Amino acid sequence: MTAAPSVLFVCLGNICRSPLAEAAFRHHAASAGLEAAADSAGTGDWHIGHPPDPRAIAEARRHGIDITGYRARQVGKADFGRFTHILALDGQNLADLRRIAPSRATARLTLLLDHVPGLEGRPVADPYWGDADDFARTWAEVSRAAEALVALLRR
Ligand code: 4NP
Repeated sequence: MTAAPSVLFVCLGNICRSPLAEAAFRHHAASAGLEAAADSAGTGDWHIGHPPDPRAIAEARRHGIDITGYRARQVGKADFGRFTHILALDGQNLADLRRIAPSRATARLTLLLDHVPGLEGRPVADPYWGDADDFARTWAEVSRAAEALVALLRR
């Protein structure tokens, strides 16, 4: 028997994109009856312990999801043995993750949008310097990816 999947979403600050990806994944996994653990983290350390950006909280709330209890943390080497899948939100996150991955890493590391047909190789753009429309686009992208990921993990 294979263990239940566990997925970690990683962006830069862990206050905008990856918390939304985690929320979207939890939502789609629950809808599909998929048992899977989910978490998110950042490659940077500026926001450790902080709740998500208020604009990310507002975007999640628009979809009926409360992420006010999420707290940012930094990704670490142990995550590569703890999770079955690690999803990088953009190419820089992916490069940083490859750099810190221990040689004994067991997690499968991929770019999040590689799981969405037609969006392969594309980054989820950082909405941090943007506005509410940018957060809405972030949600649309991570939600499509989360749905695709749930379908993949159900197989
Ligand atoms: P995130 O967005 O990586 O999607 O959480 C950012 C949040 C904060 C910063 C950069 C990106 N920052 O420079 O503080």
